[in-house]
Amino acid sequence: MNTIEYKRSSTAAEVIAAAYETPPMAYVRSFGCQQNANEGERIKGVLTDVGYGVCNSPEEADLILFNTCAVREHAEQRVFGNIGALKKLKEQNKGLIIGLCGCMAQQPHIVEKLRQSYSFVDIVFGVNGIDTLPELIARKLQSRRRVLDTPVERLDIVEEMPIRRDSSFRAWLPIMYGCDNFCTYCIVPYVRGRERSRTPEAILAEFRQLVQEGYKEITLLGQNVNSYGKGLPVPMDFADLLQMLCQVPGDYHIRFMTSHPKDASHKLIDVMAANPDHICNHLHLPVQCGSDRVLKEMNRHYTVEHYLELIDYARAKMPDITFSSDIIVGFPGETEEDFEMTLDLIRKVKYMQLFTFIYSKRTGTKAAVMPDPYTHKDKTERMARLLAAQDEIASEQVAALVGQTRTVLVEGFGRGDGLLNGRLRNNLVVEFAGDAALIGTEVQVELTGSRMAMLSGHMV
Ligand code: SAH
Ligand code: SF4
Ligand code: F3S
Repeated sequence: MNTIEYKRSSTAAEVIAAAYETPPMAYVRSFGCQQNANEGERIKGVLTDVGYGVCNSPEEADLILFNTCAVREHAEQRVFGNIGALKKLKEQNKGLIIGLCGCMAQQPHIVEKLRQSYSFVDIVFGVNGIDTLPELIARKLQSRRRVLDTPVERLDIVEEMPIRRDSSFRAWLPIMYGCDNFCTYCIVPYVRGRERSRTPEAILAEFRQLVQEGYKEITLLGQNVNSYGKGLPVPMDFADLLQMLCQVPGDYHIRFMTSHPKDASHKLIDVMAANPDHICNHLHLPVQCGSDRVLKEMNRHYTVEHYLELIDYARAKMPDITFSSDIIVGFPGETEEDFEMTLDLIRKVKYMQLFTFIYSKRTGTKAAVMPDPYTHKDKTERMARLLAAQDEIASEQVAALVGQTRTVLVEGFGRGDGLLNGRLRNNLVVEFAGDAALIGTEVQVELTGSRMAMLSGHMV
């Protein structure tokens, strides 16, 4: 691992300035997870740094960039669908530059497909090439040729990259990149490369700046935050990092994702419990499934028993904590019996929220070659049963909160006239009447009703 400092390419900035009469405009759209959203903000920062303005529609743009996700086939199809729709824009505006970056762009077969079948795509770059973007644009402008280099794995961490954040009160803060876990279904370790941690100094500096700028909610990001710190000159674990950040004075709260159950420790839970003002009482702890046999096939390195022990420990330390999880339905060879174990598990844990996915085969992963005898119809039926079970669990628990008054960060507009929506520290969402000027502030809301996983209330 090597940390380098971002350097603005003045040559690229000059080439870009010379190519346009007025400052060019960029449209950047990010798909996928929060890590991608954060990198989209960096992309906009770097583009602004070399003279671009940022616009909100592809029609106004001189440069369109899709920052893509490869986690499931559906995610990739969506991106291809959206790129296809750009062909017309390119025909109307020959000078338009179209680029693809992020996790899909890190796969050689995708780059080959773009070369062969998407002649109107001009630029690709992988997940760790954001700082090189101005040079790629300059190369394209000067040579008028497509710049579709085959992606390489790059392990450098680039610090001090400019950023243009989407929100003025909620911020993403990556603490590590990559993943070494190789869960057998997952493409992420192949596209995001080996795990590497930012230094505590760099994280603390960014964190302090965010607090100073008035950010209320700071979400620490990593594919597996609990393995933070491996390979640092002075080793430090995630719990130590959290404890260190909580010492920064200010009016903020911290969220983090994602925790891997194999590395989530009692120490982490102790640090959460000891800092209720600064760390949210919510833990996203993806279990994936409730069968030890399938967990083993998934290479997850924990058992249901271990997982439940963690949940019990957390509940004992923080009685009002809520849990959320990711579940994969229909992993190759998952039997009816395995699936029922997943239903049992979600009933035991009583998650507030579940993110559920039907298994999607990813070429190059180990699971892609495992026998998969169940049909898509079997899997969608299981999915429907899972969702119905979860609706019941969530409704019951959400309803139990009615009557309480909780601190809420106002995030935006609700679904009805004059309604706002906001998030409780435990990650539930509530709608209530209020003025738009409250967006980005914290208010006290009495919870008066619930419908499924959604609360309603009024400000007090
Ligand atoms: N690093 C995180 C999650 C990354 S991907 C973690 O380990 O929890 C987010 C979620 O997508 C995963 O938790 C998993 O539930 C789901 N997922 C990943 N690969 C998938 C695949 N091939 N098919 C279906 N769901 C998948
Ligand atoms: Fe994928 Fe597993 Fe890594 Fe999460 S921990 S990104 S699921 S390989
Ligand atoms: Fe998707 Fe890449 Fe995130 S594959 S989920 S955008 S790490």
